Amino acid sequence: MARTNIAVYPGSFDPITNGHIDLVERTLRVFDRAIVAIAINPAKDSSLFSTEERIEMIREVFKDLGKRVQVDSFEGLLVHYAERVGARVIIRGLRAISDFEYEFQMAMMNRELKPNIETLFMMTGESYFYISSRLVKEVVSLGGDVSAFVPKIVLRKLKQKFKR
Ligand code: PNS
Repeated sequence: MARTNIAVYPGSFDPITNGHIDLVERTLRVFDRAIVAIAINPAKDSSLFSTEERIEMIREVFKDLGKRVQVDSFEGLLVHYAERVGARVIIRGLRAISDFEYEFQMAMMNRELKPNIETLFMMTGESYFYISSRLVKEVVSLGGDVSAFVPKIVLRKLKQKFKR
């Protein structure tokens, strides 16, 4: 039987945005399964949403895709996690040139650590170039409307957090 091609899509997802969702959809055009993996960093945690809240929102977003999208969290090195779950590919999204330097450094470091795991970059859809979780949080916290940038479940949770 052909081997299942699994890609890990790691990130903070604090919270997941329409840009991330676009990337998962693109990933599923190329891979059988995507694991959306939330990185937990106990040393510096200034996240708005807890890991559980993030997992719950992401699961809700992809609930219709069944087993093709798994949602998980991990501590420690991403390459170790990828190896553990049997993924040979790490997916990262690129929006603009400004993303490149950070992504390049991470990809090279991950390659150095585990040469058999490949990082694959995908271009985010044009409508999502300027969306980031950080900006979404800032806009909501200041009373702006982010309904065009995040799924409904996230919008609801953001409103609860900021009591709007
Ligand atoms: O969504 P983000 O915050 O840009 O994602 C960054 C992430 C989670 C992919 C990166 O910080 C990561 O891989 N963290 C896990 C720890 C690790 O492997 N660090 C070394 C990376 S070279």
